[in-house]
Amino acid sequence: MEINQRIATISAHLHPIKPQMAEHPILRQADCRAKGGAPGFKVAILGAAGGIGQPLAMLMKMNPLVSVLHLYDVVNAPGVTADISHMDTGAVVRGFLGQPQLENALTGMDLVIIPAGVPRKPGMTRDDLFKINAGIVKTLCEGIAKCCPNAVVNLISNPVNSTVPIAAEVFKKAGTYDPKKLLGVTMLDVVRANTFVAEVLGLDPREVNVPVVGGHAGVTILPLLSQVKPPCSFTPDEIEYLTKRIQDGGTEVVQAKAGAGSATLSMAYAAVKFADACLRGLRGDAGIVECAFVASQVTELPFFATKVRLGRAGAEEVYQLGPLNEYERVGLEKAKEELEASIQKGVSFIRK
Ligand SMILES: NC(=O)c1ccc[n+]([C@@H]2O[C@H](COP(=O)([O-])OP(=O)(O)OC[C@H]3O[C@@H](n4cnc5c(N)ncnc54)[C@H](O)[C@@H]3O)[C@@H](O)[C@H]2O)c1
Repeated sequence: MEINQRIATISAHLHPIKPQMAEHPILRQADCRAKGGAPGFKVAILGAAGGIGQPLAMLMKMNPLVSVLHLYDVVNAPGVTADISHMDTGAVVRGFLGQPQLENALTGMDLVIIPAGVPRKPGMTRDDLFKINAGIVKTLCEGIAKCCPNAVVNLISNPVNSTVPIAAEVFKKAGTYDPKKLLGVTMLDVVRANTFVAEVLGLDPREVNVPVVGGHAGVTILPLLSQVKPPCSFTPDEIEYLTKRIQDGGTEVVQAKAGAGSATLSMAYAAVKFADACLRGLRGDAGIVECAFVASQVTELPFFATKVRLGRAGAEEVYQLGPLNEYERVGLEKAKEELEASIQKGVSFIRK
C-alpha cells in the first residue's frame, strides 16, 4: 500500500498538470472528474437555489447522463451545492454565486436549464412580474451567447410564451441564434395532462401520452385529447373538464399552497423528464419526441408548442399538429390570439 502511494506521488511529479490547464482553474477542475466522475454531459442550472431549482438540481445529480453539474444562483448557491455534492452519484457538482461567477458557471456547458425568476408577490401586477423575469432572462441569455453559444437551452422562467422570444432576440443580437437549440419547457402541461387523463380512463399514467400544443399559459395550453395514446374517446363533459383542468393546473397548485408559491416539485420532475430527453437526443438516441415551445412554421406564429424530435442538434424536427376536431380547432384560434400578443411583448422588450 505504502509502496503504491509512493509510486503515485513520484508519478504525479513526473506527469504534472499541463501548463494550459494550470492557467484555467475551471479546466483544471474539469480534469478532476477522471478521479471518479462518469462520462457524460455538462449541465448548468441557472436559478438552482429556488423552489424549482433545488429539486431539479437533486434530480439532475441522479441522472447518469450528467457528468458535470453547475449550480448558479444569486443567493444560496454554495449551500445547495454543498448539500447536493454529498450524493454518491457520478456527476461532479460545482456552485456559482452571483453575476461575477455567471461566465464560469456557463463555460463549456452542453445544456443550460433556466428556472431563474421571481414568483408573483402580493401587490405585483403581471406586468411587473414580466419586466423582472424578462430582465433576468435577458442577462442570463447574454451570458449563454458569450460562454456556451452551442448549448441547448431549456427555458422554464415564466411567462414562457414571452421569455422564449426574448431569448431568441438576445441570441440574434449576439449572432448566435440557433432556433433548434432554444426550447421553452411545456412538459409540466404534458405531465399534468397524462395524469388527469389517466385518472379519467382508469389507466396507469405512465401508459398515457397526451400531446399538448400552443403555449404555456391559460387558453394557450391546448391538450389534443383526440390524439391521446392509447387511442380512446371522451364524452363532451370529460373533454370540457380535462381541458379546463389541464389549462388551470398551475392555479390549482397556487391555491392549494395558499400563498406559499407555485408548482415546484412537479415542475422539477417535468423539467428533468424533458432535460433527460434532450440529453438522450444529444447522445444520438433515435426517436426522442416530446412537446416544447419552439421556433415554428406550424402556424403563422413565429413560436408554437408542438411535438418535436430531439437529436444531436436539438429540436431537429418540428411536427405538424395532425388532425384536430372542431373543439380543438376553436381552442386553437383562441390560443393563437393570446399567443401572438405574448410573443410580441417579448420581442418588443428587446427591440424597444
Ligand atoms: N415552465 C413552467 O411550466 C413553470 C412552472 C412553474 C413555475 N415556472 C416559473 O419558474 C420560475 C421559478 O419559479 P420558482 O417557484 O422556482 O421561484 P423561486 O423564487 O422559488 O426561485 C427562483 C430562483 O431564481 C433565482 N434568481 C433570481 N434572479 C436571478 C438571476 N438574475 N440569476 C439567477 N438566479 C436568479 C432566485 O434567487 C431564486 O433562487 C418562475 O418564473 C415561475 O413562474 C415555470
